[in-house]
Amino acid sequence: MAEVDEARLQDFLGKMLGDLGGAMSVALVRMGSSMGLYSALEKDGPATPAELAARTGTAERYVREWLSAQAASGYVAYDAATGRFSLTPEQALVFVDEDNPFFLAPAFDVASVLLDNQPQVQAAFRTGSGVAWGDQSTCLFCTTARFFRPGYVAHIVQDWLPALDGVVAKLEQGAKVADIGCGHGISTLLMAQAFPNAQFVGFDFHAGSIEAGRGHAQEHGLGDRLRFEVAAAKEYPGQDYDLVTFFDCLHDMGDPVGAARHVRQSLKPDGTWMIVEPMAGDRLEDNLNPVSRLFYSASTMICVPTSLAQEVGAALGAQAGERRLREVLTEGGFSRIRRAAETPFNMILEARP
Ligand SMILES: C[S@@+](CC[C@H](N)C(=O)[O-])C[C@H]1O[C@@H](n2cnc3c(N)ncnc32)[C@H](O)[C@@H]1O
Repeated sequence: MAEVDEARLQDFLGKMLGDLGGAMSVALVRMGSSMGLYSALEKDGPATPAELAARTGTAERYVREWLSAQAASGYVAYDAATGRFSLTPEQALVFVDEDNPFFLAPAFDVASVLLDNQPQVQAAFRTGSGVAWGDQSTCLFCTTARFFRPGYVAHIVQDWLPALDGVVAKLEQGAKVADIGCGHGISTLLMAQAFPNAQFVGFDFHAGSIEAGRGHAQEHGLGDRLRFEVAAAKEYPGQDYDLVTFFDCLHDMGDPVGAARHVRQSLKPDGTWMIVEPMAGDRLEDNLNPVSRLFYSASTMICVPTSLAQEVGAALGAQAGERRLREVLTEGGFSRIRRAAETPFNMILEARP
């Protein structure tokens, strides 16, 4: 064995301790979110363990240990002089405020989905088969919606739609829009709320997600301007859409080229296809960074198995990169393709026939 370099070893162990701290925090962060421990700290201010327990109807001894772990993680602040714990404004953005793009608490739910998926995905590693979206962790669907929501709230209406050529004007006048692979339909709902003259329909092949979408639509009283229907990306009905949107789902599909061809024939001649995909460079060496690390991990446990369970099984993966995505869109019949917008997490492609 090659000689161990002491400095490199110390560096690597330091990194691993940080990583293990994050991994061991998954259950604790999820409990803090679901029991309202973070939000009670944010809303009512600094608290001792007994005060936080009283505010949240929880047991002081557990809360004390949880707070100690959170303080050691740097996820809450601790004032030794008063014995009180608090959330800094920055920590509140990450753990409490659901409407800002830095709300990362749902990512811990995604981490838990990866663990739930382990037995099936591990078996699939041996056979090369897929694991269907609907057969994965039952938390996957609502977790996905919660995970993507902050980015969509921050960007779809404000940045991404305006970055497309002429689309906002059409939406304002009353365009017809299909949101494919819409999941729980958060993206569809946000667009429908912003453009009251336009008609929106969300399609997804997962019936449970479409049920949830219908629930949101009813809750927000948008009537028949916002509908949700079960349909696969290659089969959804309609041939006169002004805009078709794919939010974080093209790479999950078994046959993305088939889906692209279907989009092409479903659009009006001057229609637009907006494809939102995870941010990625074209080569693995461009993607050796913290954001891609999250996407590759989720892709191994969720996206690749989902695609391999479908026809063709292209398994683009969540880090396909723009060059590979352009090949798919071009093969599907689109000739004018450009990157219209981007964030650290997403790239937004505009494709036109
Ligand atoms: C990562 S989720 C994204 C969901 C939603 N667009 C969002 O951003 O929250 C991927 C979605 O693609 C859907 N999906 C995957 N393959 C599909 C296909 N071939 N046809 C229709 N929907 C599909 C899944 O059911 C799932 O809802």
